Amino acid sequence: MGENNNYKELIEKAKGAMENAYAPYSDFKVGAALLAKDGRIFSGCNVENAAYGPSNCAERTAIFKAVSEGVRDFEAIAIVGGKAGAIEDFCPPCGVCRQVMSEFCDKDFRIVLEGKDGAQKTFTLGELLPESFSL
Ligand code: THU
Repeated sequence: MGENNNYKELIEKAKGAMENAYAPYSDFKVGAALLAKDGRIFSGCNVENAAYGPSNCAERTAIFKAVSEGVRDFEAIAIVGGKAGAIEDFCPPCGVCRQVMSEFCDKDFRIVLEGKDGAQKTFTLGELLPESFSL
């Protein structure tokens, strides 16, 4: 996986992860697939909770899975989502997930989105979270 590809495999893995979304409250299912610099892929889905607050987004599930396995260097993440798992539009990461990405990823980390009918958009983290906070 280099810079000059469209991350097709990563998007397919994100779609597969979306199948596991636990979203009985919003019915909005999200899947993410995170590509580490060593080539490993960590997938994640959103996991909701009856108390709402403890719910976790797909992106953070994938990032936390990787970090908990000792992996912290990342190249890209693919994200798909939609009501009842139907991809009708792009699903950009929420602000909390962007901040979590900024903890581990450089400004050139790539965020790959697939929307309706296979339309694709790619952003860098620097574009989606400019002037980010860090210590
Ligand atoms: N969600 C994600 O998993 N990722 C995002 O980037 C946006 C929102 C989840 C959280 C919640 O389970 C559902 O989508 C509706 O907000």
